Amino acid sequence: MSQSVRVVDFYRQTGQRLIDTSRYPERIAEYRRVEDDIAAQTAPFYQVVLEIGCMDGCLLYPVVRGLALTYVGVDVDAHAIQRFRARIVEEWDGTAIRHAVALDVSDVGALSELIVPRRTVAMFPFNSFGNLQSPTGALDSLRAHDVDLWIGTYQTSPSATELRRCYYDNARIGVVDHTEEDCGVLFTSAEGFKSYAYRGDFLRAQLEGRGYEVEIDDTHADFSFIHARLREAARSTEERP
Ligand SMILES: C[S@@+](CC[C@H](N)C(=O)[O-])C[C@H]1O[C@@H](n2cnc3c(N)ncnc32)[C@H](O)[C@@H]1O
Repeated sequence: MSQSVRVVDFYRQTGQRLIDTSRYPERIAEYRRVEDDIAAQTAPFYQVVLEIGCMDGCLLYPVVRGLALTYVGVDVDAHAIQRFRARIVEEWDGTAIRHAVALDVSDVGALSELIVPRRTVAMFPFNSFGNLQSPTGALDSLRAHDVDLWIGTYQTSPSATELRRCYYDNARIGVVDHTEEDCGVLFTSAEGFKSYAYRGDFLRAQLEGRGYEVEIDDTHADFSFIHARLREAARSTEERP
């Protein structure tokens, strides 16, 4: 079974409980509130928002849908995207430009007609970046199209790890194990769940090495919000003469 089929299978069934707000520990509910606020402040700086790991539109869409920008929800789970599309059609106000696309973010080139280079941000809510099977493939793909990044994630401290365990246990997603690795803290389950909280210095090196200027907001205990903006001098390979 390919890695992305396994991810889709997990999120289509058991993984749905990870977005059941009635199962959230209070600190996770708090994390989502803070994430929404920061996302709503960041998005207006861009012409296009790609929400990566948008699920069925339950995460950032409610806070960015009122903004004057093009919104594109992206998720590998085609069923979630189908539900999201129905919602977009139902809520359409006759003007807003909103799309929902079933796609692996590593293939973001498929959206090149919607991407405005240097005016587009890929927003990864609720640790969707930590769920990627190929984070470096995703970064390369976004960088090649001059897309900025914004990532909501957990810290790697013992208290953040304990909070994640409590969140995953409450969601009854099976037996979850966690391991400490050089790049961060990884939670896995036999059912196909795989979620990293990457260390700040690891993410910083990955992003700076690709020409981004990186700002990490670690002021909220247990959570981190990372904004990576392309440096002025950086140019994608496609733009080079
Ligand atoms: C928003 S994250 C939730 C993670 C969870 N809250 C945690 O703590 O790890 C999960 C979503 O990311 C999506 N996803 C995973 N890998 C993806 C990829 N390569 N491209 C697009 N979406 C992806 C999944 O299908 C799922 O809907």
